[in-house]
Amino acid sequence: MISSDRIEKITKASIDLLKKNRRQADGFCYTAPALESYPHQWLWDSCFHAIVLSHFDISIAKAEMKSLVAEQFDNGMIPHMIYWEGVKETFVHIDWGKDKTSSITQPPMLAYAVWQIFNQDKDAEFLESMYRPMYHFYRYLLSERDPRQNHLVGLINPDESGEDNSPRFDKLLDLPPRHSLAENTRRRFELFDKNKGCKFDAPFCMKNFFWVKDVPFNAIMVRNLELLALIAETLGNNEDALIWREEKDLIVKAMAERMKEDGLYWSTYGPDYKKIKVMTWAIFSVLFGGLPDKDEADKLVEEHLLNPAEFFTTYPISSTSQTEAAYDPEGFWRGPTWISINWFVVQGLCDYGFYDLAEELTDKSLALIEGSGFREYFSSKTGQGLGARDFTWGTLVIDMIERLRE
Ligand code: GLC
Repeated sequence: MISSDRIEKITKASIDLLKKNRRQADGFCYTAPALESYPHQWLWDSCFHAIVLSHFDISIAKAEMKSLVAEQFDNGMIPHMIYWEGVKETFVHIDWGKDKTSSITQPPMLAYAVWQIFNQDKDAEFLESMYRPMYHFYRYLLSERDPRQNHLVGLINPDESGEDNSPRFDKLLDLPPRHSLAENTRRRFELFDKNKGCKFDAPFCMKNFFWVKDVPFNAIMVRNLELLALIAETLGNNEDALIWREEKDLIVKAMAERMKEDGLYWSTYGPDYKKIKVMTWAIFSVLFGGLPDKDEADKLVEEHLLNPAEFFTTYPISSTSQTEAAYDPEGFWRGPTWISINWFVVQGLCDYGFYDLAEELTDKSLALIEGSGFREYFSSKTGQGLGARDFTWGTLVIDMIERLRE
């Protein structure tokens, strides 16, 4: 049991941090992941913020989501970054051929965040206002990102996964397991340029430059489509609900057919679905999507999650398995511990009834923040805080604690 004293402290610190990082711009309101290094609005970050804010500041949670959809593209895509006016430029402010936004997307956590907000106050007006942008966004992903209608959503750039330099993408960037972040960034920028050259035409980009069907992105899609169906139902639109469920089932089936091998799901690349057999936390993301049956989930947890030689490091879980040549406990997305990853895993563990383990992981996530502050990520070996300071993702611990109380 996590003591009430610890819960009180982290709640207060989280409220303070989310307030401190809040930005008002052009009549909109969002939370910067970190004021210094990440001052803009990011897609999955905003969903994380809204999930946490839903517990104590519902109107700000709604404002965050409304800002997020304000710059939706005509084709339905929601960009992964919005450069709101008056925010200073940093190294992350890349030219994507647009004035105000990026031209790629990020894991589609919108329906999850919106549904969680709705469940707090049952505000049907808010639900209604979010349904249209979500409708077009998920439709975009299901069509533009799946031109051959094989029911898996494709990425055109590693950054769309939210795990920019994950070793899952090394092979496609023609990089060896060990290389510098600068080298990785250089390759990703070359790809941005190619993407830009064809105006981010997704089917063209995927066919010609980079075509990854990523496990976490698709598992997140599955979970969100189920929630979108619930949202549609709540709004009295049973026809849409049926369609979203059908789409979800098709992705579940396609993931089993194209990604699964010996009980594990692997991201794939290219038109013929070659598997990328690099062990990262992605193998656990399917728990969040509800994909494995109970036996498969047991095996996954026993053999891999709890394996101290793979993911259960001193400060679990490492984003990349220690068995990988690419593993680096301090190397951005190549092995450190991230609170968002632990959040996804904790949700999945709770869904499958692994409450003790979910609590242990929540406790360990909280201890990281207590020991090192709200850092961007943590060494999975020593727990040392790394990357940005006053970084918001640590506040997700609040939601983990809430989930355990259910
Ligand atoms: C980094 C992360 C990405 C996140 C962004 C803002 O680029 O890799 O997932 O959205 O920072 O926090």
